[in-house]
Amino acid sequence: MDFSESGSNFVRLKDDEFDYIVKFVGGRYGIDLSQKRKLIEARLASELKNNGFKSYEQYLSMLQSNPAAIDSFLNKITTNYSYFNREMEHYDFLMRAVIPEIAARKKNTLSIWSAGCSTGEEPYNIAMAVDSALGIKRSSWSVSITATDVSTRALTAARKAEYPESELSSMAPDWVKNYMTKLPNGNYQVCDNIRRVVAFSQFNLMDPFPPHMYDVIFCRNVMIYFKQATSQAIINKFYQRTNEGGYLFIGHSESISHSDNPYKYVKPSIFHKVTK
Ligand SMILES: C[S@@+](CC[C@H](N)C(=O)[O-])C[C@H]1O[C@@H](n2cnc3c(N)ncnc32)[C@H](O)[C@@H]1O
Repeated sequence: MDFSESGSNFVRLKDDEFDYIVKFVGGRYGIDLSQKRKLIEARLASELKNNGFKSYEQYLSMLQSNPAAIDSFLNKITTNYSYFNREMEHYDFLMRAVIPEIAARKKNTLSIWSAGCSTGEEPYNIAMAVDSALGIKRSSWSVSITATDVSTRALTAARKAEYPESELSSMAPDWVKNYMTKLPNGNYQVCDNIRRVVAFSQFNLMDPFPPHMYDVIFCRNVMIYFKQATSQAIINKFYQRTNEGGYLFIGHSESISHSDNPYKYVKPSIFHKVTK
């Protein structure tokens, strides 16, 4: 069967089906698909085909009665694009400002959350930056990086920690040497010392946050897909989970309205929690 957009079996979304998906994904996962009708049709075509459905009506009613199919749906609907050294200024700021500030407070623990970690480049990059900044002092520090995403497919790739050589072109040669291992298949894998610092789990940012507190939260290029009010609510939840003196990093192309932002503005995309 031909499921390409030009093919006769390409299934068009009816208005009420499109509205249902927009409402469901927006309400449950925050992702605003209201302008993405073509994207939904293109990405779900293989879901319909693989499950033998001839209409979205059939597919959506299966989704409602089969929560296990939701993961597969989310894997299609989410955009997991990521790469090493993306927005490198954040890793520089972490190394040059955040870690020395924490060390100056005589603290030697560091708890970081990579929220919307996708395929792992971001949390591994954070672990590399921390290791590189601490140098020989690393062994006297307790460092933990929680990395979460709603997409199980992205998390599976992240846990595997294997990347093609082309992904390393933006990485400093000493980081490649220190933190990546070449595999027989030509790909590179993040080394054990870096991998063991990062704990991956599935988590939907629309759900209530667990009580853990963080020194630094990265949530970059995630809320760009959310409506402003949804992002604002999530930023307020991040604030509740940020330690005094801690930081929030968002993507360079994202913004937070100044009037509702509980954090203190440091520079574009970097925010500080200071209450005292
Ligand atoms: C474009 S990637 C960004 C990855 C990384 N932070 C970066 O900047 O390279 C966005 C990620 O956000 C995740 N995401 C979207 N909505 C989410 C939600 N409600 N809860 C958790 N993760 C979500 C997607 O699955 C995707 O992997």
